[in-house]
Amino acid sequence: MVKLFIKPFVMFAMEHGVMGAPKYGVKAGWAYRISKGIATLEKNFTEGFRGKKGIMPTRGGRSSLSDNEVKTAIAYMINAIK
Ligand code: HEM
Repeated sequence: MVKLFIKPFVMFAMEHGVMGAPKYGVKAGWAYRISKGIATLEKNFTEGFRGKKGIMPTRGGRSSLSDNEVKTAIAYMINAIK
């Protein structure tokens, strides 16, 4: 169920690749981010993140996401490039 929720969200909301966001499934954009550690990525997604490439809104703009859904979403994106 979580997967059904997360997948269309990731794909639809951005397919990460829009407006400077690291593209879903493309290793090059993710390697240095993953080296920051998963906890940092979860925090940056939860609080919103402004980097050199652009701005990600708090929880990707979905304030209704629970902390568990945040963790699932991050794991989902990281798993895609393993
Ligand atoms: C489920 C949805 C999403 C997840 C799990 C997600 C996750 C992430 C993560 C983990 C990063 C890396 C943060 C870092 O380097 O510390 C990132 C970067 C970014 N995200 Fe998202 N994101 C989501 C949705 C969105 C949406 C909807 C937008 C735009 C409206 C967006 C825009 C960006 C941008 C622009 C960056 C790069 C910022 C920079 O390095 O300058 N993201 N995202």
